[in-house]
Amino acid sequence: MKKGYGVVNKIGVGYASVTELEKKYVLDALENQRLSQGKYVAEFEKRFSGMHGQKYGVMCNSGTSALHLALETLKELDGWDENTEVIVPAITFIATSNACLHAGLKVVFADVDPLTYNIDPDEIEKHITKNTKCIIPVHTFGMPCDMNRICAVAKKHGLRIIEDCAEAHFASLGGKPVGSFSDISAFSTYVAHTITTGVGGIVCTNSRDCVEILRSLVAHGRACTCERCIASDGKTVCQKRMQTEMDRRFTFVRLGYSYRVGEIEGALGLAQLERKDEIIDAHHRNAELLTEGLTPYENLLQLPREPEKIRHTYMMYPILIKKESGIKRNDLVHFLEKHQIETRPMLPLLNQPIYRKIFGDLEKDYSVARYIDQHGFYIGCHHGLKEEDISYIVQVIKEYVSR
Ligand SMILES: Cc1ncc(COP(=O)(O)O)c(C=O)c1O
Repeated sequence: MKKGYGVVNKIGVGYASVTELEKKYVLDALENQRLSQGKYVAEFEKRFSGMHGQKYGVMCNSGTSALHLALETLKELDGWDENTEVIVPAITFIATSNACLHAGLKVVFADVDPLTYNIDPDEIEKHITKNTKCIIPVHTFGMPCDMNRICAVAKKHGLRIIEDCAEAHFASLGGKPVGSFSDISAFSTYVAHTITTGVGGIVCTNSRDCVEILRSLVAHGRACTCERCIASDGKTVCQKRMQTEMDRRFTFVRLGYSYRVGEIEGALGLAQLERKDEIIDAHHRNAELLTEGLTPYENLLQLPREPEKIRHTYMMYPILIKKESGIKRNDLVHFLEKHQIETRPMLPLLNQPIYRKIFGDLEKDYSVARYIDQHGFYIGCHHGLKEEDISYIVQVIKEYVSR
């Protein structure tokens, strides 16, 4: 039995580290006496979006809000109606498809690739109809989707792409970061995610038209979205503000949301961003050590792989039990939990009670997703784990499979 693991004596799937840098920036934000949007939010937006190949970033209160804002923006720009269909993977966190439903759009699921667990471009093509307007690829667990093929499908059929990068901050394909392949990309900075602001999210784009709408939607549908109004220091005044009869900050031109965050999240985000290499390198190193230790059992367990030219950022470490292994997922998972190693099911979606109620029995049509639902799980490989923790995980799995 594992002894002396931190405070909780357990190897959790997620971890957030707060260092002196986070404390310094948060304290500075508090001392500035400006708690709503200010210099930290603006700086985080600029740097984070730039690192993902997009000119503009808009911080918001969750990854789900980021997706919702992205969908509402394209809906307005392109005039989508309630018959508009959005294609999403049949394996993802429920927020991806929920955001489409919240935006009043139709969700169409596409089955996933059995090796990467990401949306399968061939399956996307099978589900395209005259009402399809958008694809949401999700870079699951830090593994980039096959964006070259997905972009080709989108181009062929004139579809928009929104990348859901909630689990894949700084992952890349051929040196190009995820988030830069689409019209708008959405990120979560919730606590177990690579870069965290506690709770939060950010939506990124290169399009001036999109960012105007995003900035308005995030703040109740405001007319004026200029930096001086949205992220002002309270001292400078927007020149346009008083040019109309009503103060443009308090003129609302669309049905917006209150999805903003403040300087404390901005300060946390900026500190985390400055530590990103340390965090990601540790995830990567731990994942490689797990793969090295578990490779002798690859006839039983499918392990994540990092193909050439791909930078996998391993937010989590997914494991799929192979058919021929005879291993029962729940037995193995209980064994791990009994040994203080936390596990989570691999993103079951189609069989969620609420989705069964909305969509009926979908699972029968998605054989890969169904297999993953029944045989997949994930464990942590985060930067709070040391080499001895990884050896311990490998040793426990070895003990189970050798029984
Ligand atoms: C793929 C994916 N999309 C969206 C979200 C939603 O993010 P949030 O919890 O910040 O709303 C998550 C959260 O874990 C996620 O994993």
